[in-house]
Amino acid sequence: MTSQEQDFQALVDSDQRIEPRDWMPEAYRKTLIRQIAQHAHSEIIGMQPEGNWISRAPSLRRKAILMAKVQDEAGHGLYLYAAAETLGADRADLLDMLHNGRQKYSSIFNYPTLTWADMGAIGWLVDGAAIVNQVPLCRCSYGPYARAMVRVCKEESFHQRQGFEILNTLSHGTPAQHDMAQDAVNRWWWPSLMMFGPPDTDSPNSAQSMAWGVKRFSNDDLRQRFVDMTVPQSEALGLTLPDPEVAWNEKRESYDFGEIDFTELFEVIKGNGPCNKARVEHRRRAHNDGAWVREAASAYAAKRRTASETAA
Ligand SMILES: [Fe+2]
Ligand SMILES: [Fe+2]
Repeated sequence: MTSQEQDFQALVDSDQRIEPRDWMPEAYRKTLIRQIAQHAHSEIIGMQPEGNWISRAPSLRRKAILMAKVQDEAGHGLYLYAAAETLGADRADLLDMLHNGRQKYSSIFNYPTLTWADMGAIGWLVDGAAIVNQVPLCRCSYGPYARAMVRVCKEESFHQRQGFEILNTLSHGTPAQHDMAQDAVNRWWWPSLMMFGPPDTDSPNSAQSMAWGVKRFSNDDLRQRFVDMTVPQSEALGLTLPDPEVAWNEKRESYDFGEIDFTELFEVIKGNGPCNKARVEHRRRAHNDGAWVREAASAYAAKRRTASETAA
């Protein structure tokens, strides 16, 4: 180990933050760029399944809340692309890689949103799982990523509560509304559990990420934490989880749950999920439609630069 590497590891081990100007191993920089970019892509692709329901929200109040939520996700994308830029990445390149399929986003967003209850199930389960994944990232060793996560997590907890509230209203509404809520939970439960990634026995990069202070808990530990948090909430909602094996385990002081069928997850990752193609096509179109905004913004910035140089 070189002395630079030793200093770097000492900073990480003493739980201090690595900042953009600090020396860091190339592999650390590359891994973080990939992880932060994938996270940023997930935030902006994640706007689509819910954006789809803004015009069909059942009341003005619901519409206003959903719009605010979807806008928050755009903001999360922005903080994260900015965090990736502090590592020397170029935002335009990252977006290109999203658009040409060289970088991924969370597979959860490749499922369709079939009913209004899906807005509830996504907020409650998908944002709920995101919180469990992201809270430990507030202590990630890379400063800009950790600080972005603090703000993101505050907003995610609002998202989770709005989802819970939608489901709570539906669950205690008419029998048809209750069934719609139950159906949404049935469809989103297993994909949400898969958001924590493959089982620890099959998670090749985890050890390195742990040593770098990027990852703090294993996939299975986080998944268990999510299940333990969610089962009592499902009881409060009066909805059941689509897993007959969910049961309190006195000895482990945790909930047991059934085996996850990861073959489905791997199919969706490979691009064979129900909405993979539509999501990326929509994103590309939105990007092309926004070209004039980017051009105008850079022309304006150039003009201001010239003006301030002339003044100086
Ligand atoms: Fe988000
Ligand atoms: Fe969210």
